Amino acid sequence: MTFKILVTSQKGGVGKSTLSANLVAYFSRQMQLKTTLIDWDPHGSSSNWLLHAPNVGVVVQHLSLPVDQGGNRPIFEARLQLRHATKTSDIVLCDLTWSDSLAGELMFEFDMVLVPTSVSEIELGATSGFLSRNRWVFDSAATRRPMLLVCPTRVLPEQLASNIFTKQRFPVSFMLAPPVQESQTARDLYERGFLMDSEDVCGFSFLQFAQAVCAAREMRMAQNNQAPKAAPLATGVNASSSDRFANSTTPRASVLDGVVGAAQYSILGRHRQRKIAESEQAQAQAQTTATVSDSSRTMSSLGIPEFIKRMSRSTTSAKF
Ligand SMILES: Nc1ncnc2c1ncn2[C@@H]1O[C@H](COP(=O)(O)OP(=O)(O)O)[C@@H](O)[C@H]1O
Ligand SMILES: [Mg+2]
Repeated sequence: MTFKILVTSQKGGVGKSTLSANLVAYFSRQMQLKTTLIDWDPHGSSSNWLLHAPNVGVVVQHLSLPVDQGGNRPIFEARLQLRHATKTSDIVLCDLTWSDSLAGELMFEFDMVLVPTSVSEIELGATSGFLSRNRWVFDSAATRRPMLLVCPTRVLPEQLASNIFTKQRFPVSFMLAPPVQESQTARDLYERGFLMDSEDVCGFSFLQFAQAVCAAREMRMAQNNQAPKAAPLATGVNASSSDRFANSTTPRASVLDGVVGAAQYSILGRHRQRKIAESEQAQAQAQTTATVSDSSRTMSSLGIPEFIKRMSRSTTSAKF
């Protein structure tokens, strides 16, 4: 089944097109997946990047979406375009600058909504506002609500230690991707090459980010496979009408539901992640009784990476 990703944020300049172009290149060349990029941005930055850089086999479409028309028009148009693209692709990624005239229902067309944000106060405020306004989508009880992956971008070395992704600031269920670091290379590679081939911090951090997206995709696909067959796609519904499972006796099929649905915290910075991984390993070794939760055991056996495992365990504590 085709996996559909929406890369979006309301603000420009946060790195949507850079991440979009580099992520589709990674999916196509590294993961050998049939990949389509739909660039809904009139500027066409991500599509131009792919069209001018060495060919990595991505199908590139620069299309228009009637963003300002409001109502259902953009959703119908998006559905048509997506239906067409999914016929031939394992992955379809759409690059879109969000506008408040768009209905949040559009996000139900996707398996994952990826929101890049820099960690400056002004941008975090904008991201938080955007996510809060669309909270009903990500906190919806619909089985097919999109996963929300927040991605810190253009992160400076001195910002790596900050712990700003708190519940107070982001009152919505989300997963936090490893940060993509700021570097001149990201600008220099425009229309020339790809971050996955860059050996600096930006390239390295991008690879970690791309691997995390792949892991999240695998989780989602496992979740889809375990979802009850009768459950229809939750497209075009709102939070109040889509609460299919609220009164249902059908158990949530997978522990992964818990991962996606929990309010999550993570850390900014690999060195902190490493520190936590080390201390958790030490703790695990010290445990002689079976105190590890079933869910974390299951996830370990699924090979879920540390950044996601953490989120399922700690939903309220932000002590990193
Ligand atoms: N990791 C990064 N390091 C340095 N510059 C970056 C990085 N990511 C994006 N940029 C630069 O930031 C600017 C905006 O990026 P872009 O991907 O076009 O954002 P958006 O699509 O959100 O408007 C561009 O000049 C781009 O080269
Ligand atoms: Mg752009």
